[in-house]
Amino acid sequence: MGVTSTSTPASSTPARPTGPGAPSAAGSQPSLGANVLPVRPEHAGLEPYGAPQLDVPVLLNVNENPYPPSAEVVATIAADVATAASGLNRYPDRDFPALRSDLADFLAKESGVRLAVEQIWAANGSNEVMLHVLQAFGGPGRTALSFAPTYSMYPEYARDTATRWVQGRREDDFTLDPAAAAATVRAEQPSVVLLASPNNPTGTALRPETVAAVCEAALDVEVPTTSGHAPAVVVVDEAYGEFRRAGTPRPSSSSTDTRTSR
Ligand SMILES: Cc1ncc(COP(=O)(O)O)c(C=O)c1O
Repeated sequence: MGVTSTSTPASSTPARPTGPGAPSAAGSQPSLGANVLPVRPEHAGLEPYGAPQLDVPVLLNVNENPYPPSAEVVATIAADVATAASGLNRYPDRDFPALRSDLADFLAKESGVRLAVEQIWAANGSNEVMLHVLQAFGGPGRTALSFAPTYSMYPEYARDTATRWVQGRREDDFTLDPAAAAATVRAEQPSVVLLASPNNPTGTALRPETVAAVCEAALDVEVPTTSGHAPAVVVVDEAYGEFRRAGTPRPSSSSTDTRTSR
């Protein structure tokens, strides 16, 4: 199984910026850009990520619900915002235990697996959770691994956290062969493995035996830590879990579940 990798070395000659905010033509008023602000060299000239926002009734590409929330949900949110607003002179509880407890209840109902509040994390969408995961477990000298084609933001989280990015290959039908995936994990020694199910953009479900094989291999990884070494973290990203086909077993043996309230 072939792999490709990229790292994020600092370049002494940053690429000329071409995106929004790039300096305008010589002599005219400069806009804010890489030559005015100390933009990180590996970010210079990049276009922001963004799924197309189309004017169509059903936006499958961003997993938006075509139906608006019920009047009851709107009223509940409005009442809760009013309650929260009366305490805005104070910082909110930074560990948000009430939200994490509600998420634990939701997950127990949805998956049949009961997690403790300490095992739940939440943020502004799973993109932010995944960035937190790589901030905590990736970083310089460490590797994040996934299997292409997959979610195009994964290499961006890696770049933004200065984590080496490696992508293994999927089979011709976009499935992951358990033995081949496990061999890639053992060969690349990542600190984080990212697996999406269903996978974006192929819609391929992850088989539980593949998750099990990757988790087995992750236990063999030796990520250097301050006290010796630790195994890799395996993330099963179920951002599109609502699209799983009826009867598809849920891969519940992951070390980290990135589901958030959506
Ligand atoms: C596989 C995958 N994970 C995560 C996300 C991000 O989801 P969120 O809106 O929760 O940040 C997306 C969005 O397209 C996705 O395709």
